[in-house]
Amino acid sequence: MSKPKVFVTRIIPNKGLDLVMDFCDVDLWTNDLPPSRDELLKRVKGVDGLLCLLTENIDSEVMDTAGPQLKVVSNYAVGFDNIDVVAATERKIPVGNTPDVLTDATADFSFALMMSAGRRVLEGDRYVREGKWMTWGPMLFLGNEMRGSTLGLVGFGRIGKAMARRAMGFDMRVIYYDPNEPRRDPDVKAVSVDFDTLLEESDFISLHTPLTSDTHHLINAETLNRMKPNTVLVNTSRGPVIDMDALYEALRDRKIFAAGLDVTEPEPIPVDHPLLTLDNFIIAPHIASASRSARDKMAWLAAKNLIAGLEGNHLPNCVNPQVHR
Ligand code: GLV
Ligand code: GLV
Repeated sequence: MSKPKVFVTRIIPNKGLDLVMDFCDVDLWTNDLPPSRDELLKRVKGVDGLLCLLTENIDSEVMDTAGPQLKVVSNYAVGFDNIDVVAATERKIPVGNTPDVLTDATADFSFALMMSAGRRVLEGDRYVREGKWMTWGPMLFLGNEMRGSTLGLVGFGRIGKAMARRAMGFDMRVIYYDPNEPRRDPDVKAVSVDFDTLLEESDFISLHTPLTSDTHHLINAETLNRMKPNTVLVNTSRGPVIDMDALYEALRDRKIFAAGLDVTEPEPIPVDHPLLTLDNFIIAPHIASASRSARDKMAWLAAKNLIAGLEGNHLPNCVNPQVHR
């Protein structure tokens, strides 16, 4: 029997790629940059499966260009806003994602951003490199302490809960807003609040929500205005959850203390974006899940999802399990 044909849109760690190579006839995109739209449409023609990244927009056109034999779309990410899941479900195509395995890596990085922005680590680094460090100073780079401060989590799913567990170790008070998860979690000391309370009481705010029409620009001029002047805002979810122009104005006018973004709108952020001129802003290139172990496990899970779909089995992690009904 001939092997199923798949398109893999980037080189992923061998923990997953080797499985895919063994099981499938693989067309592998080896460039560091994503395939262009035209190239994607060309390469998907006739494939049985697609293993893609969050940089690829997988809509009905891609699925229809692939053809009716397309059995599975496996996303190498936990977020899946890059995929038209409704269109996939209509076509009975299961869509896989990679939750759980990146939870701790992402929570670690969100904490790193909170602490770096709150304690001005990168400003201090620049100051030293620029030859400005003259002496120890009582007022040099004063920032915000974790202990006793309130962490507000927007979204209390897997990553939000992992943040709460870490915050307990720092003796923080944790509140969260999540319309889908209003219950208390017995394992973590965190209190569900309404969104306004979260904005008004938090010293640190970290975003852990998927990007949907409800969360698009959830952080905007009005909601930034409600935050405290010492608030540190971090985002490792999806860029469009924040209105970046409004964030620029809030940071410039010192309406909030600092912000740290791992995700932007668009990605990459243009190098001439005004946010990049601000000292109270830190930025990373969408790397919150980039621990070696998380990326290995993501590759393995994305491969397992792909192969299960090709075999007509339920995916280990399926975002639209109703396709099997
Ligand atoms: C990364 O952003 C992911 O969704 O896995
Ligand atoms: C600072 O370095 C201190 O010793 O207090």
